[in-house]
Amino acid sequence: MNKYLVITASPNREGLTASCGAAAAEGLREAGCEVEIVNLYDYRFSTCYGCGSGWGKCRKESRCVADDPFNELQDKVLAADGTVFVTAVYWWQPTEIAADFLNKLRRCQALRPGGSGLSDKKFLFVAAAGGSGHGTLSCLHLFEEFAKQNKMEPFDYLPVMKRSREYMLPAIREAARRMPEWSYSK
Ligand SMILES: Cc1cc2nc3c(=O)[nH]c(=O)nc-3n(C[C@H](O)[C@H](O)[C@H](O)COP(=O)(O)O)c2cc1C
Repeated sequence: MNKYLVITASPNREGLTASCGAAAAEGLREAGCEVEIVNLYDYRFSTCYGCGSGWGKCRKESRCVADDPFNELQDKVLAADGTVFVTAVYWWQPTEIAADFLNKLRRCQALRPGGSGLSDKKFLFVAAAGGSGHGTLSCLHLFEEFAKQNKMEPFDYLPVMKRSREYMLPAIREAARRMPEWSYSK
């Protein structure tokens, strides 16, 4: 059975981000996948310290030296066939914890000897904005840069705003349902 991870990044456990994560999980389960949902706000991990002169051990060893749950979360991503990553939009950007997580993951994977461990993973990125909607596209742009840096070809990038919730939640569910059967073009 395919294993998928749904990562949400919002401290609001009943908000738009959580609804997007639940819609994705529903679609993945409809596709017959085993799904684990993780909210980054249930974990406490450090930002990247930029060890040494800027290139830490993570570049070669693909692990963060900090003694916190980041490595455990990275292992979940690497053990899954794919991930749906949903962040709330804060300050026109991904939430701080979402940015910290992706920054550390990039440190560990983008230049990994032997190639990025993310390049054969299926990813769906979602940015959920509950205010003006400003920043939804900036978030997706950052996700695209992350994907390129990590040699990934994500399945899709979806923007959701408070006003588009009604038609975007079914779209997220449908995207998640289709993602497992999709094959890379490369
Ligand atoms: C610190 C902070 C900054 C925010 N910045 C933005 C923003 O730049 N654009 C926007 O549309 N909404 C913004 N919002 C609203 C969130 O996107 C809103 O809470 C949204 O519903 C996120 O999902 P949630 O329901 O899971 O919290 C912000 C909220 C907070 C708490």
